[in-house]
Amino acid sequence: MTTLLQINASINDDNGQSSQLANQFVAAFRTRIPNAKIVLRNVAAADPVPHLNAERFGAFITKAEERNAEQHAVVAYSDKLIDELKQADVIVLGLPMYNFGVPSQLKAYFDHIARAGVTFAYTDKGPVGLLTGKKVYVFAARGGLYAGTPLDTQTTYVRDFLRFIGMTDVEFVYAEGLAVSPQSKEAGLARAIAEIERLAA
Ligand SMILES: Cc1cc2nc3c(=O)[nH]c(=O)nc-3n(C[C@H](O)[C@H](O)[C@H](O)COP(=O)(O)O)c2cc1C
Repeated sequence: MTTLLQINASINDDNGQSSQLANQFVAAFRTRIPNAKIVLRNVAAADPVPHLNAERFGAFITKAEERNAEQHAVVAYSDKLIDELKQADVIVLGLPMYNFGVPSQLKAYFDHIARAGVTFAYTDKGPVGLLTGKKVYVFAARGGLYAGTPLDTQTTYVRDFLRFIGMTDVEFVYAEGLAVSPQSKEAGLARAIAEIERLAA
């Protein structure tokens, strides 16, 4: 059975443009593969991921047999997030741009899934990602126009992070210009929806 993990990262929950585009893609995917298992992880609104701090990171690097109850809970939470990724064949990420970057809760999510020896390993040939063989679709919503320009450090960052943990097959769909004018918003969304229809065909 195919498993799809949808990660929504908008502070606006289901009203976010990135969530709505991701939802549209997932609806089309469900039509194409009716028995697919769909798992939703909402990192910014419904179930925000806490920021990584010294205590939480300390739990990751403490040997399992030496962890206290609080540290076990922190690692169990991280393991759950990672397990969702491991189980997924397809990953869909709704990605808002906030202040040139990713939502801070998505960064916190990344901080909880980057675990040495679990999702990546350091080898004598450099770091190797361990979450391989997955297809990732990213639905990026932006007020302005950045795709393909040096200002779009968000795409580079997300691509580099996903590659680091082993995800190399990553496709971005952009809805841009959403805050420029009503016409620009309409055109940006129409382009993204056309792309979703192409991907889902
Ligand atoms: C706090 C905040 C910061 C934003 N910063 C940017 C930005 O740096 N560049 C940009 O193009 N749009 C920016 N926007 C506009 C969002 O990218 C746009 O509203 C997009 O739809 C957000 O995704 P969402 O609707 O899924 O939450 C910002 C919006 C908010 C609320």
